[in-house]
Amino acid sequence: MKILVIGANGKIGTHLCKKLRDHEAFIPVAMIRKEEQKEKFSGDGIETVTGDLEDSVKNLSGLCTGFDAIVFTAGSGGKTGADKTLLIDLDGAVKSMEAAKTAGVQRYVMVSALQAHNRENWNTSIKHYYAAKHYADKELMRSGLDYTILRPGRLTDEPGTGKVSLSKNLPERGSIPREDVASVIVEVLSNKNTIGKDLDLLSGGGLKISDL
Ligand SMILES: NC(=O)c1ccc[n+]([C@@H]2O[C@H](COP(=O)([O-])OP(=O)(O)OC[C@H]3O[C@@H](n4cnc5c(N)ncnc54)[C@H](OP(=O)(O)O)[C@@H]3O)[C@@H](O)[C@H]2O)c1
Repeated sequence: MKILVIGANGKIGTHLCKKLRDHEAFIPVAMIRKEEQKEKFSGDGIETVTGDLEDSVKNLSGLCTGFDAIVFTAGSGGKTGADKTLLIDLDGAVKSMEAAKTAGVQRYVMVSALQAHNRENWNTSIKHYYAAKHYADKELMRSGLDYTILRPGRLTDEPGTGKVSLSKNLPERGSIPREDVASVIVEVLSNKNTIGKDLDLLSGGGLKISDL
């Protein structure tokens, strides 16, 4: 399967591209924003395409053509204002869904955020971020795409443990290493029974990623 990773130069995206490259069933292609980011991936034997979520759906659909699945792990990040959160985490995400449909890419995996589906639990200081994630996820559920939505807790840069909890309703707070999120995405792409599911994702617990 040829996988387009949107947000590939980010922390989860970087882990994910390498894990997909090392898996016999997948060929990752990293969507990057700048030419200077290319070398990081070509050095690791990973192909790139250059694109921006602020671009038109038409151009984005051109980039999506020929893929079997899309993973969205992009985000404007905590340092930008709410305007960019709206443009990337919400509109950028929805545009990539429209582009996927136009390009005939049916499988779509979204990295959302823990409690994004639950307004009562949104962190007050970043409500705009949760609202963006909430409506992007809703749009994906309505899109007709074969989606899986993962809602990880607070992301850490600790090494992956291979032990995660992945379920419809996990505790409201918790964390998970980015590397484990990337491993779960690989498993999700490998398992058709994850299609149509939206799942919380935290570190620890009895579920081994390989048992998904
Ligand atoms: N931080 C948390 O605790 C937390 C918790 C739950 C979920 N999440 C979600 O997890 C996901 C990944 O997290 P992460 O830490 O790996 O993120 P990250 O390192 O900040 O990476 C985000 C990526 O998005 C890319 N991006 C930003 N604007 C873009 C645009 N206009 N077009 C295309 N790409 C663009 C960035 O590109 P450049 O590299 O070019 O800047 C970057 O590669 C995000 O969706 C985030 O919302 C985060």
